[in-house]
Amino acid sequence: MAEVGSLLLTMLEVLAALFIFALGLAAASVLVMYIVDRSQTQSTIRRNYPVVGRARYFFEHLGEFFRQYFFAMDREEMPFNRAQRSWAYRAAKNVDNTVAFGSTRDLRPEGTVMFVNCAFPTLDEDAVPPSPVKYGPYCETPYTTASFFNISGMSFGAISTPAVCALSRGAQASGIWMNTGEGGLSPYHLEGGCDVVFQIGTAKYGVRDANGQLDDDRLREIAAHENVRMFELKLSQGAKPGKGGILPGAKVTEEIAGIRGIPVGEDSISPNRHPEIDSVEDLLDMIAHVRRVTGKPTGFKAVIGAYGWLENLFAEINRRGIESAPDFIVVDSGDGGTGAAPMPLMDDVGLPIKESLPLVSDLLIRHRLDDRIRLGCSGKRINPTEVAWALCIGADFVVSARGFMFALGCIQALQCNRNTCPTGITTHNRKLQHGLDPADKSVRVANYARNMVKEVGVIAHSCGVPEPRLLRRYHARVVCKDGFTQALDDLYPLPEPTIVATGT
Ligand SMILES: Cc1cc2nc3c(=O)[nH]c(=O)nc-3n(C[C@H](O)[C@H](O)[C@H](O)COP(=O)(O)O)c2cc1C
Ligand code: SF4
Repeated sequence: MAEVGSLLLTMLEVLAALFIFALGLAAASVLVMYIVDRSQTQSTIRRNYPVVGRARYFFEHLGEFFRQYFFAMDREEMPFNRAQRSWAYRAAKNVDNTVAFGSTRDLRPEGTVMFVNCAFPTLDEDAVPPSPVKYGPYCETPYTTASFFNISGMSFGAISTPAVCALSRGAQASGIWMNTGEGGLSPYHLEGGCDVVFQIGTAKYGVRDANGQLDDDRLREIAAHENVRMFELKLSQGAKPGKGGILPGAKVTEEIAGIRGIPVGEDSISPNRHPEIDSVEDLLDMIAHVRRVTGKPTGFKAVIGAYGWLENLFAEINRRGIESAPDFIVVDSGDGGTGAAPMPLMDDVGLPIKESLPLVSDLLIRHRLDDRIRLGCSGKRINPTEVAWALCIGADFVVSARGFMFALGCIQALQCNRNTCPTGITTHNRKLQHGLDPADKSVRVANYARNMVKEVGVIAHSCGVPEPRLLRRYHARVVCKDGFTQALDDLYPLPEPTIVATGT
């Protein structure tokens, strides 16, 4: 009996020892994972949330199997569904972006775009790179680039230092440009050596005097940077047309104050319009002024709602002479993104790009200005289909903000306005920024841009043209009310150039 008792005791001791060993092993594994996660640079989530962040991949993996029963389908989420985001993530990681078995895209809803493949597609050896485009032919320092997919404005302050660094380096590596957004030019924009478009917002951050007026000396200083290739006046953006912004004093650090040209620690209010631009004449005067002072191409960005003013603008350009024209116009979609905006403006004001881009493109053709003014657009162009559609309609280039945020690792947590962005992109929290390694993410930014160009090229070749810029309206069709498709050139017939230039 005593022997059985001692045997049981020994077994219990062994089990206890094993348990303690297993516990120690688990603790050691957690420690190793913690160190590995903290020190690696590829995954922001694992760097910011060591060990627990790994669960995301596990659940994401399980989600592939269970989502269809319990959660959203691949093409249901907003603003970007999983299929769209997956393409962006995979393009950024430069991993295989093919899909298996068949399309999960529902091709029946009205507005669905599809391209018309050619019976005799372009042979690989006949494909050519995108052709270069010249901006600002009449200014002192025109800008020529072949890039048709670039980074849209996101201000330093709305996005973090490491995010700006990664975008700048990635843009340089892939030969695309980066727009500063309205927060001024920081050393981080210049760090990578990419081409930069400087945006002049309504508060003139970075180029203002103490009273918030445009300061020509500051403008000249910015233009003196060789990398700053063009200037863009922001009239409005899709997420908040007609709304200025407030940068709370708490966010106005010494660095941000220095870059923006505002006092440290004080609330900074940007007007909801450029106070000195009250008409198309004022707009052209301002464009002429910025172009004269900087010597560089100057254009503007706007979301289109009412559009009679564009008719007036183009007529006035033809009256003054085509040199007076903006060198480019960027049309932003009514459903554009931002760090923070009131819901009614974000949801319900401004035309969506599918309506405004053809409208502006047609007006340019009618006024014979389509060769003079380069047309760009933004708004949910994060996959090749959407970019190719814009080129078919008549865009010379596309810019994307949120596409590049996905390349930086954004997981669409929708907390950009709360300083709690888990991926370090839209937060001032240093701990969260720590996870975003600019060196690693710059590679993803470059991969994303390159793969976008490559796959828009694939669509172009399938349609029988050797490069993306040769895509035309007749290369795409759209599903209409009756469920059948209609060619884009039937839906938006190219107008006759009717309005004859009257200027010199
Ligand atoms: C975080 C964030 C900051 C932005 N900041 C600016 C800005 O400073 N100036 C601007 O014109 N647009 C700004 N935008 C709007 C984008 O440039 C773009 O017009 C809009 O998001 C639509 O493009 P997308 O669908 O590719 O994001 C911002 C967007 C985001 C998401
Ligand atoms: S808060 Fe969310 S949506 Fe905004 S940048 Fe960060 S991860 Fe993306």
